[in-house]
Amino acid sequence: MSSPGAGLRSVPVDLGDDSYEVWVGAGARRHLAEVLPSGAGRAAVVTQATVGVTVDPGIEHRVFTIGDGEPAKRLATVEDLCRRWAQWGMTRRDVVVAVGGGVVTDTAGFAAAVYHRGIAVVHVPTTLLGQVDAAIGGKTGVNLPEGKNLVGAFWQPAAVLCDTEVLETLPPREYASGLGELAKYHFLTGDDLGDLPLDERVARCVAIKAAIVAEDEREGGRRALLNYGHTLAHALEIAGHHDLRHGEAVALGLIFAARLARRLERVGDGRVADHEAVVAGYGLPDRLDPGHDPDELVALMKRDKKALDGLTFALDGPDGVEVVAGVPEDVVRTTLVQWLGEGGR
Ligand code: GLY
Repeated sequence: MSSPGAGLRSVPVDLGDDSYEVWVGAGARRHLAEVLPSGAGRAAVVTQATVGVTVDPGIEHRVFTIGDGEPAKRLATVEDLCRRWAQWGMTRRDVVVAVGGGVVTDTAGFAAAVYHRGIAVVHVPTTLLGQVDAAIGGKTGVNLPEGKNLVGAFWQPAAVLCDTEVLETLPPREYASGLGELAKYHFLTGDDLGDLPLDERVARCVAIKAAIVAEDEREGGRRALLNYGHTLAHALEIAGHHDLRHGEAVALGLIFAARLARRLERVGDGRVADHEAVVAGYGLPDRLDPGHDPDELVALMKRDKKALDGLTFALDGPDGVEVVAGVPEDVVRTTLVQWLGEGGR
């Protein structure tokens, strides 16, 4: 592996022997050959037909296309990939290159984690959501009919290339989905991300995530902060039929978390206003559809797989965002009912 250097920002993810660099900037994908593990023989490029981003690994390679959309993120796709890799004769000296959004990097990353008990993978995330979240930190996996991400592995990539040029062609709602995760990072540190150009903002979000992952790779504690805004977001996504993208649901989840923290007297009104301003600044929804049933949402939040003890939220407070377990159900319900009663405003 050499170093792409000029024009790209490099963010280290410090994980001892599993450390790697995330390269951020316009045209980053063109540096793929430079970040492949040294001695890599051949590359299996995994992508979806709709991604439309080509890469050149600079070594013998073959493209393996998986199905489109979230339904492709399943065990059958992993088996299919591994079988096609075996038929091509891939060995542990070869490398997987995942080019696409979270469905591709999660699924190809998991297949790489289990093929020959683990071969190298390089991620080239092509969505904003992938660049600031899904492709960073080594979580890989697939869905089961019983739930999302129920089967997976921690498998760190050898490198990640976040090419901000490819974001320019994303459909607006796909881009909005990433903005929800960007908005989240505004509250995880005291940083003011507001005025940064896109490249710098993506690199800063990657650095925030990298620092958290370096401290807690396996989510024994601090990594759960990355789920800020996600408890209500997941409930909204499961409640469905309200046509919300993930980032839009996270935006609503961030405002709800701020309102809940306010009700628990962890923060003042000004902090709730800060959350509303960041969400509105990204053009994300800040109004909860009054058609939601608060009892259904509370029941779904109680089933959240991150729940440690009753209702669990990442909540802002005097010491910043922290994980708070055992939040009283009546406080959650009242906060929700009040928000819905205001017409979601
Ligand atoms: N997307 C949350 C995490 O990587 O931990």
